Amino acid sequence: MGSEGGEVIRPHHLVLVPCPYQGHINPMLQLGTILHSRGFSISIIHTQFNAPCPRNHPDFRFIPIPDGLPDSLISSGNIPAILLAVNANCHTPLKDRVARMMQSEKPNGKVSCIIYDELIYSAESVANSLGIPSIMLRTNTVSTFLARDLILRLIDQGQTPLQDSIMEEPVPEHYPLRYKDLPTTIFKPVSNFVEMVENLRLVRTSSAVIWNTLDCLENSLLDQVKQQCQVPIFTVGPMHKFAPQLSTSLLKEDYSCIPWLDKQAEKSVIYVSLGSLACISQHELAEMAWGLTKSNLPFLWVVRPGLVRGTRNIQESLPDGFKEGVGERGRIVQWAPQKEILAHKAVAGFWSHCGWNSTVESIAEGVPLICRPNFADQKVTARYVTHVWKVGMQLEEELEREQVAAALRRLMVEKEGIEMRKRAMELKARVEIGTRKGGSSFNDLDKLIKTIRSF
Ligand code: UDX
Repeated sequence: MGSEGGEVIRPHHLVLVPCPYQGHINPMLQLGTILHSRGFSISIIHTQFNAPCPRNHPDFRFIPIPDGLPDSLISSGNIPAILLAVNANCHTPLKDRVARMMQSEKPNGKVSCIIYDELIYSAESVANSLGIPSIMLRTNTVSTFLARDLILRLIDQGQTPLQDSIMEEPVPEHYPLRYKDLPTTIFKPVSNFVEMVENLRLVRTSSAVIWNTLDCLENSLLDQVKQQCQVPIFTVGPMHKFAPQLSTSLLKEDYSCIPWLDKQAEKSVIYVSLGSLACISQHELAEMAWGLTKSNLPFLWVVRPGLVRGTRNIQESLPDGFKEGVGERGRIVQWAPQKEILAHKAVAGFWSHCGWNSTVESIAEGVPLICRPNFADQKVTARYVTHVWKVGMQLEEELEREQVAAALRRLMVEKEGIEMRKRAMELKARVEIGTRKGGSSFNDLDKLIKTIRSF
């Protein structure tokens, strides 16, 4: 870094292009924070849909571009259709914006690299057409990446839709997955999903891949993928451990739950959140509510607007008499400061949908999980949590209050759960080693930075 007229000059200007969903915005902004702390200048070019909040990142430039998404498409919630439209509609505005930056006379005006979420692959062709190097960010696991490949193969072989009779069978090439754990889509038409997946498995012309996963969690799978990949792969996860403290939330976090947590006994609280996209029925919400009541455990529950299909009002969604019955033993918020909660000494378990961010945030704090995956990669991750890392149990059947209560008690107070917590604490220690000086993620981050500086 140099200085000109008092202004710090950062010789490398990076454009970051996030995918407009919470589980993708978080790692991209964390990456921006890390790279900014290492002397890079950061511009975030983003859609108007789910635009990130600039307030917490005064050092970044946030540049919205028109995404052309009709309200009807946004409200459909059809993720593959929305992402295909984002890729098609944002190509030209993104190219125009970056082309203007390349004409800049300022010392740090020109762009030295575009880092894009794998789902916004049109950014790669923008980079190519302007002669700028690009790097792909993968915000998911290697196991999900390989499972997606398997789906494409099954489609090619004409084996989809998968027959009900094989759903419980193990997938021969991919322990511990069963056919029902494969990351298929719930959105129609399936051809949109196939088009997306085909696009994001290819690195094509990018110079490198950044992966928000860890060597100690996916060692052998990573080796397998590295052998096939033509460009370097930098595994720098979990990135939130390198870029703590900054809020990257689209919804306002309710911090009032922290003083409530402070009053709870150590390792007594179950934290419940199904992430930013998962939806459940009114009936499932009621079974969760009564299961939490019957467990007799203190709980902190995120009931996000839209969690229950077709409703926005949380108060109306909860069963009558539930809140009064629970009293101070339970706390409900619409959106929580999740990372602080998982690191809180009162929290002993996490009932999660197993989005990758939530899972790795939990593992990094040594908190075991109850897995209730909803769709896509969440099913793969849940299976790894329960069968590979063995730090959680999955609720597989239809939700029923007695079974919910029994599962919660198994995780929180019974021997099985205590063993899981022990293993989770061991994994936490390995994550700490990986992110410390000399650790695998720490070293890969250094290599990534050298690579970007060499452009
Ligand atoms: C989506 C998909 O569902 C997931 O499977 C995929 O891996 C990423 O995209 P999402 O549902 O948002 O993710 O889950 P997740 O990946 O866990 O990300 C949610 C993020 O929101 C986490 O970083 C979590 O800390 C944060 N969060 C969640 C909050 O800050 N507050 C909350 O109340 C809930």
